[in-house]
Amino acid sequence: MKSNGALSNGPLGISRGISCTTDGHTYRTTRLMSIRIGERANYVNSPHVIAMVGLPARGKTYISKKLSRYLNWIGINTRVFNLGEYRRHATTAYQSHDFFRPDNTEAMAIRAQCALEALQDVCHWLENGGEVAVFDATNSTAERRKVIQDYVVNKMGFKLFYVESICDDPQIIEQNIMEVKISSPDYVNMNKEAVLDDFLKRIQHYQEKYCPLDEEKERDVSFMKIYNTGEKVVVHKHEGHVQARIVYYLMNIHITPRTIYLTRHGESDHNLLGRIGGDSNLSDRGHLYANALLTYIHEQKIEGLRIWTSWLKRTIQTVSGLDVPQERWKALNEIDAGVCEEMTYEEIKEYYPEEFASRDQNKFAYRYPRGESYEDLVARLEPVIMELERQGNVLVVSHQAVLRCLLAYFLDKSADELPYLKVPLHTIIKLTPVAYGCRVEHIKLPIEAVDTHRAKPKEPDQCSSAEITTNE
Ligand code: SIN
Repeated sequence: MKSNGALSNGPLGISRGISCTTDGHTYRTTRLMSIRIGERANYVNSPHVIAMVGLPARGKTYISKKLSRYLNWIGINTRVFNLGEYRRHATTAYQSHDFFRPDNTEAMAIRAQCALEALQDVCHWLENGGEVAVFDATNSTAERRKVIQDYVVNKMGFKLFYVESICDDPQIIEQNIMEVKISSPDYVNMNKEAVLDDFLKRIQHYQEKYCPLDEEKERDVSFMKIYNTGEKVVVHKHEGHVQARIVYYLMNIHITPRTIYLTRHGESDHNLLGRIGGDSNLSDRGHLYANALLTYIHEQKIEGLRIWTSWLKRTIQTVSGLDVPQERWKALNEIDAGVCEEMTYEEIKEYYPEEFASRDQNKFAYRYPRGESYEDLVARLEPVIMELERQGNVLVVSHQAVLRCLLAYFLDKSADELPYLKVPLHTIIKLTPVAYGCRVEHIKLPIEAVDTHRAKPKEPDQCSSAEITTNE
């Protein structure tokens, strides 16, 4: 997850601000290297364009947004460029599917121009600090893909990877139209039947010219194909770790409805004392929360629920009464506060005043001496996210800093916001996937607990006594 602010070497290792001029264009390149156009695409750390391919209503926008959220979370600066938005900007109000007829030459010219403008923006953004641009469009003809190849790879020297979504299940397609197209700006004030009818005709127009990616005809092109939302995946000539991570991530996601429940352990003895870290037992109120949680979970009758806890006593004690399959994850342990483990914030401020102040300067990047940073935590939690993506209903019982990281992934929060997300004790955070994101509900169970949230100080190095109850 990238912090906002000064440009620095990104996780792709791209050195910012170093550029060279070739053929009238300014190109960013890796440190101390001279380049030839096109050649740069061979470098490991070149910026990437991920171009979607597929007929309308095949989940391309869903994949684009989800992939972007994941890549940003792991620290790769990623942005989605949606061609439909360019088209809407360039035209008056949408009339009907006729706009997408292949014999509508006027509209075809507008669409080609929009694609070019979007590609220009994609490349401009990549030249100015972006690392991965997701080009969310149908890109359903070989001609369009040739334009992309020429621009992105041959002219700009960026890496290009296609993700094609193929779906022949009419139920999934109709469900997609009903869930997301109905609320598209194209269909304001239209009834559901009319939207479905128009959109199916729009798909037919694309179908006439649709040319799926082909291993023979596009032999040197890097791509993956996802069939029926993950039933089968084909990967062709993927290159480098970014593409490998994208492939691995997209192989793990699914669209089956499910709910993820996040909760911290019940209040602990250390919480009462304002001590961070450690491995203390639940307080009396913590045990009451464990009982209340048990009742809540029983009442919900959640099908196939699994529980994941950390290795620490307070999370295990919180669900010890629940007769549900449980797994322990060391990766879910609280942030390691290193030399500050089991201290109060007052003590940290007294013994390590410089550490205390620098944590407030950049809480996401700050690493406790001999301990961890939030940034480290995100890296530690990647396998948890990957496994959560594969699962059905899961209750995760963990700790404040860890749950902030998980929440930031699901709610698409920036690195600046992440360390200050509110994750109160004795509260269940219920996450339900909807359309392109997650619905979040906070269910506060009626058991008192200390407030461990420490808001971002206005002036770094502030530490009022009210703030000393923080548990991370
Ligand atoms: C659109 O105009 O809505 C999408 C254009 C495309 O990707 O083909």
